[in-house]
Order: sequence, then structure tokens, then C-alpha cells
Amino acid sequence: MNSPAGIQAHGVRRAFGQVRAVDGVDLVASPGRVTALIGPNGSGKTTLLLVLAGLLVPDAGTVTVAGYDPVTQGVEARRRTGWMPDVFGTWDSLTCREVLTTVAAAYRLPREAGAARAAELLTLVHLDEFADAPAHVLSRGQKQRLGLARALVHDPDVLLLDEPASGLDPRSRVDLREQVRSLAAQGKTVLISSHVLTELDEIADDAVFLSRGRTAATRTVTAAAAQRRPWRITSLDPDALRDWLAANGHVVSTGSTTGDGGGGAVLVHLDGDAAAAALLRAAVTDGIPISSIAPAGGVLEQAYLELEEERR
Ligand SMILES: Nc1ncnc2c1ncn2[C@@H]1O[C@H](COP(=O)(O)OP(=O)(O)OP(=O)(O)O)[C@@H](O)[C@H]1O
Ligand SMILES: [Mg+2]
Repeated sequence: MNSPAGIQAHGVRRAFGQVRAVDGVDLVASPGRVTALIGPNGSGKTTLLLVLAGLLVPDAGTVTVAGYDPVTQGVEARRRTGWMPDVFGTWDSLTCREVLTTVAAAYRLPREAGAARAAELLTLVHLDEFADAPAHVLSRGQKQRLGLARALVHDPDVLLLDEPASGLDPRSRVDLREQVRSLAAQGKTVLISSHVLTELDEIADDAVFLSRGRTAATRTVTAAAAQRRPWRITSLDPDALRDWLAANGHVVSTGSTTGDGGGGAVLVHLDGDAAAAALLRAAVTDGIPISSIAPAGGVLEQAYLELEEERR
């Protein structure tokens, strides 16, 4: 059998007629880490996830999920894979609890264990009060949460989450973040697609960027944070700040793609967190009344925008 855990995908291709939805993707996602799958609409994220989930057969390439090939070892692979689609299919007549016990039965969990697991997961995703309500009455965000519970029923090693945060309110997003981090802490491999990048900074360890069906870049979030990106600085004395920055060789920009210099703020490109800390220290030492300094936009958002820029 294949031993590498997590997800390994090499040279994966899948076309729909003339459309090359996935056109050469290489991706590795490791156990205990959260990997973000990032790309614009139509870049092939869902198609790739369907291939990894064993729901679409690739035209070319090799894939292993939890050590198994989803095509030739589908049963083994699916037993270890939890799949959360971007839209929860409605099983109109079933209650939330029945959705989960039905999935448990499909994975051959004994009835008692399935019932216990369903109850535990309904609590985890805060749907206790809807346990015996038909799933189709749930709001969009509640359906998303039921979708996550459904993906976790059989305690899979690998989780494939397609836009799991879409439709979630702020509280539920925080919950999702904590749930995903806790799953990774248990040693699971989590692959999570999104184009809402700001919230991925705090969830993901690694990022794979897709563009037109291909892997455009692979980064760790730590490495992305160390890259040159814009920081937004405000001072009680904006003129003094500008003069000081100019005197210290910083090029100041106001107005950009990542937030303009509203409220007297200036944007300065800095080489990561350490450079920002050094600038703050020096400015304060020189008596500049700095009132705030923060990255303008998220780490992954910046990495993404730079990739887009390169392609123009
Ligand atoms: N079943 C299908 N039949 C035909 N074309 C398809 C099919 N599924 C996807 N495509 C096409 O493949 C490309 C990739 O689609 P995919 O859904 O994988 O993108 P995505 O990255 O998930 O986008 P989004 O961010 O909008 O969810 C698109 O051009 C899409 O139109
Ligand atoms: Mg999609």
C-alpha cells in the first residue's frame, strides 16, 4: 500500500469537454496542518476537491488521500476522507439528526454509536435546537454547519472543505476557525478552499494558489508573512511622520489596492513583521507620535494580489 499520509496530488488534470477545469495541479497537504486552496472563481478549486474526494475521476495525474488512491482504492480512501461541499444538498424529509445517523449508517457505524456521534456533532456545530427539525428549514449558515458535522461523522483523517465559511455569521466563523484548528491539532489533514482570504490567515499553515487550473504557487503562511507587503501607519502628527519616513528612506504611498491612506494614514512597503517592529521602534525613539501600525490587508491576500499582478 501507499504510505504517505495527508494528500499528495501530482500532475492532476480534468477537463469538461473543451474546458480544462484542472490543468496540471501539484499539491501536498500534510497531517496536522491546515492547507488553504486559493484561487479566483473558476480556477478549479471545486473540481480538484471533487477529484480528491473520489467523486470525479481525473483525466491524468496521480492522487493519494490518506495513503490511498481515490480511484483504484475508493472504499479505503472514502472511509478516511470527510467531504464538505460548497452547497449542502437538501435531503428534504430528513431531520438534522437523521442526516447524521444516515451518514453514520452508510459508514457502517453501529446504530448506538451513530446516534451518539450525531448528538456529539450537533452540539459541536451548535445545532442542538434544530436536531429534530427537517434539515431543509435550516438557514444557509446553519446548513453549512450541518455540512461540517456530516463531513466529520466517521472521524476521517483527511478533511476536504469547499468554501466552508461562506454564509457564516461572525460568531460561526470564529467557531469554524477553532474547529478547524482543533482538527489539525488532532493530526488530521485539512484542505480548505476559499477566496475570502483575510480569514484564512489565521486558519491556514500552508497555502496553494491555483490559477486557471494550475498550481501557481505554494507558500507557508509564515513565509508569506515575512514577505514585502504594505503596512498602514497613522500618527498624531501626520506631517512629522511623512517627513521622518522620507528622511529614513521609506517610500510612502497613499491610496492603493489594499486600503487608501484615509484618516491621515500612510502606506509603507516593509519586509515583513521584523521590519515593521524595527520601524516602529526607530520612529518612537525619534519622537514621532505613532498611533497605529498594521499590515494593510492580510498576508495571503497580499500574496494572492502579487501573483495576479505578475500575470498581467
Ligand atoms: N460539471 C462541469 N461541466 C462543465 N464545466 C465545468 C463543470 N464543473 C466545472 N466546470 C468548469 O471548470 C472550471 C473550474 O470550475 P470550479 O468549479 O472547479 O472552479 P472554482 O475554483 O471552484 O470556482 P469558485 O471559486 O467559483 O467556486 C470553470 O470554468 C467551470 O465552468
Ligand atoms: Mg468552487
